[in-house]
Amino acid sequence: MSNIQEIQKRRTFGIVSHPDAGKTTLTEKLLLFGGAIQEAGAVKSNKIKKTATSDFMEIEKQRGISVATSVMGFTYKDKQINILDTPGHKDFAEDTFRTLTAVDSVIVVIDVAKGVEEQTEKLVSVCRMRKTPIIVFINKLDREGLDGFDLLDEIETKLGITVSPMSWPIGMGQRFLGVYNKWEKNINLYQGQNKQKIEESYEINDLEDPELDNRIGEDYADTLREEVELINEVYPKFEREAYLNGEISPVFFGSALNNFGVRELLDAFIGMAPEPLPKEAEERLVKPEENKFSGFVFKIHANIDPNHRSRIAFAKIVSGTFKRNTNYLHVRQGKNLKFSSPTSFMASKKSVIDEAFPGDIIGIPDTGNFRIGDTITEGEKLHFAGIPSFSPEHFRFINNADPLKAKQLAKGIDQLMDEGVAQLFTLKQNGRKIIGTVGALQYEVIQYRLEHEYNAKCSYEPFPAFKACWIESNDDAQLEEFSKLKQRYLAEDKFGRLVFLADSAFSLQMAEEKFDQLTFHLKSEF
Ligand code: G4P
Repeated sequence: MSNIQEIQKRRTFGIVSHPDAGKTTLTEKLLLFGGAIQEAGAVKSNKIKKTATSDFMEIEKQRGISVATSVMGFTYKDKQINILDTPGHKDFAEDTFRTLTAVDSVIVVIDVAKGVEEQTEKLVSVCRMRKTPIIVFINKLDREGLDGFDLLDEIETKLGITVSPMSWPIGMGQRFLGVYNKWEKNINLYQGQNKQKIEESYEINDLEDPELDNRIGEDYADTLREEVELINEVYPKFEREAYLNGEISPVFFGSALNNFGVRELLDAFIGMAPEPLPKEAEERLVKPEENKFSGFVFKIHANIDPNHRSRIAFAKIVSGTFKRNTNYLHVRQGKNLKFSSPTSFMASKKSVIDEAFPGDIIGIPDTGNFRIGDTITEGEKLHFAGIPSFSPEHFRFINNADPLKAKQLAKGIDQLMDEGVAQLFTLKQNGRKIIGTVGALQYEVIQYRLEHEYNAKCSYEPFPAFKACWIESNDDAQLEEFSKLKQRYLAEDKFGRLVFLADSAFSLQMAEEKFDQLTFHLKSEF
């Protein structure tokens, strides 16, 4: 098969949601359709259970599980589908942001009863920033929930996207009869959980057809006709081009748990979702169909086995064909590396592969060569853009608690930061190190891992920062004046970029007003 054919076959996407909306359940049902698993319950949840917030052993265990479910590949109707899992837990949001740099599209799962929740808002805003095509799946229609129109309104206002309903529910909760598929022009009647495999669907080309009244009763039929008419008036018609540009999001309704509406979603997905897209590097736009291989690391996962400090770097292939045991350039280190046992993630188990194509995710065993955002190529010095760091929410000084183990501590911190567990800032004034995290949970994880993997001990002290702001300056004199005034709060990030650790919202606002030639960014790429 030619490279072009391989590219055209591939669909790499992520499922995002607020915890408990049904991401794991939907993933599992998609895998069932793809034959990647044989029975429900085979996919272990990658979510960190709410109850486990102080039990980091449990978290580590779950992190272990999540290596296996980080990428799940399967074949469906000749398409090679790669699902990238994303942790829903907010303390791991940074992980999810980064994984989103490796997807070509996303499916957003929304709980019909809860509507748009906080985590969904954040994740979708990252997708919108990159114009990632979004499909919305409204889940749990077997439960009482919000009115369909109210929900669409909420999605449009809170998520800032324009929707185009592709299906429409007939009743809800106790009165849930099924879904009208505008997209396929048929009606799926809901059979309930016990008969989830026998899904009755019949074609309906014209909603005026009296057969509709026979099937679902006059009341339901009339309501459906009215509502669909309204949808057609109010919402734009689906256009693939607009979806691919991130301008319009098709919406589907269903119930993942009951396997209802999932096949329709999957069929629509493979019909509309983009194949691997070109990716912007600092130097130029890199297209998948180029002959030469390039890829980038978007995630690093440490193995839990404390005796082997091995890690897996997850790389997305952007262009060309990746081949095993071939010399490739590690651009940041400027050295050539060969990978003897890269793995793929087909059929929910890892296996060593000889080659991989654009859109594929490979796992590279790593002993510390890689850092998130690293680029690998056939020789060209490319730097893929678009893996920004976001401002952490929590900041603490990290101190060495065992003076004899300073080296181990430094190495541990360095490697954990490469993995993206948290962010390190070094104060300009005195070189003290500050760890910034998205959730308080990471501090425990870091302490635990430093001790068990690096034989080092640390302690923390509060550092009163509100946000980390990457500084862009148009005026050296202003920057100098600002640096003098705020020297206690100036730091460098891991890459030596200047950061203002604003002590309060007020202080940030004052800085913005007074120093009009400086811009304070809440993310590292601007
Ligand atoms: P997440 O990955 O987004 O966090 O959600 P997950 O799939 O784990 O689903 C969260 C809960 O919602 C699960 O119940 C799951 O069974 C349920 N669920 C998912 N889809 C549907 C649906 O279509 N209808 C209904 N009624 N429930 C649904 P749980 O009790 O928290 O977990 P479990 O014990 O069932 O695993």
